Amino acid sequence: MANSMRVFQGGTAVITGAGSGIGEGLARVAAEQGMRVVLADIAGDRAEAVAESIRGQGGEALALVVDVSEPQSLDRLAAQSQEAFGDVMLLVNNAGVETLGFSWELSAEQWEKTLNINIHGAIHGVRAFAPRMLAAGKPAWIANTASIGGLGMMPIQTSYILSKHAMISFSECLSLEMQLKQAPIHVAAILPGPVATRIFADGGTSADAGSEQHRAMMHNMLEADGISGEEAARRILPQLAAREFWVSTHPEITREFAGNRARHLAGLEQPALPAEVLAAMGLAVES
Ligand SMILES: NC(=O)c1ccc[n+]([C@@H]2O[C@H](COP(=O)([O-])OP(=O)(O)OC[C@H]3O[C@@H](n4cnc5c(N)ncnc54)[C@H](O)[C@@H]3O)[C@@H](O)[C@H]2O)c1
Repeated sequence: MANSMRVFQGGTAVITGAGSGIGEGLARVAAEQGMRVVLADIAGDRAEAVAESIRGQGGEALALVVDVSEPQSLDRLAAQSQEAFGDVMLLVNNAGVETLGFSWELSAEQWEKTLNINIHGAIHGVRAFAPRMLAAGKPAWIANTASIGGLGMMPIQTSYILSKHAMISFSECLSLEMQLKQAPIHVAAILPGPVATRIFADGGTSADAGSEQHRAMMHNMLEADGISGEEAARRILPQLAAREFWVSTHPEITREFAGNRARHLAGLEQPALPAEVLAAMGLAVES
């Protein structure tokens, strides 16, 4: 597997949300492969701790405090990354948050926060980094972290799920744009399956008890069934190196979700989820 990632050796990686979970795993494994890594996170202390640990193992790592919901913060990240480590080879727009609640019960601030981080964070990441990559004219990668949830539907997680559909759509259109430009920039959509991270522990909810129960069940489910962030990264990076567009941590689940989505759309079916799927998530139709 190490050989399959050789293309990344000596390059610079910038990973948002690198202070925890999948982003932390990506930073650690990229550094292991000989990449210089910039760890961007709103939680500067966590990003710095990971960077410190990477440096302790002989790697090159720089932690920066970045709020991906602020376009200027990403502009600064692009400039600081270039200044520290030169041209960026791999950008992973990975930072994301969960927010749970009925669509009409989330506050305007909760909606804006979720969409600004999960969608605008990646858009402005591309806006800040792609011109530099295009100008450099070297092989480069832009990967956006979506989710297998971006191939499906889920009540209560509406704000999150729609943001992940958006990440897939953004990645597809961006890939076509790079093809029009004949740019040596590979675009990928990362669709993680269950990974045991802090995402649901940190997740916001609306005020109702049902959303809180759903959040707690999702957290417990990831803790019980999820792979580690580092294992996720060990599955993701070789697929990026191989220039796959659809990058998965759990290929069989991804195929199942994609197949279900394709059948659902081909049949123009009504939105529906089986009762047992809802029950497994702590949800039920109210009587
Ligand atoms: N964990 C899973 O099972 C899973 C599944 C599918 C997709 N994902 C996606 O993977 C990505 C990483 O999630 P994770 O599970 O590792 O979560 P995580 O909560 O462990 O890590 C996310 C990191 O993003 C940072 N972050 C939050 N808001 C930010 C902001 N405004 N600016 C910069 N950084 C910010 C957090 O501080 C945190 O360190 C997310 O996009 C998530 O939607 C996760």
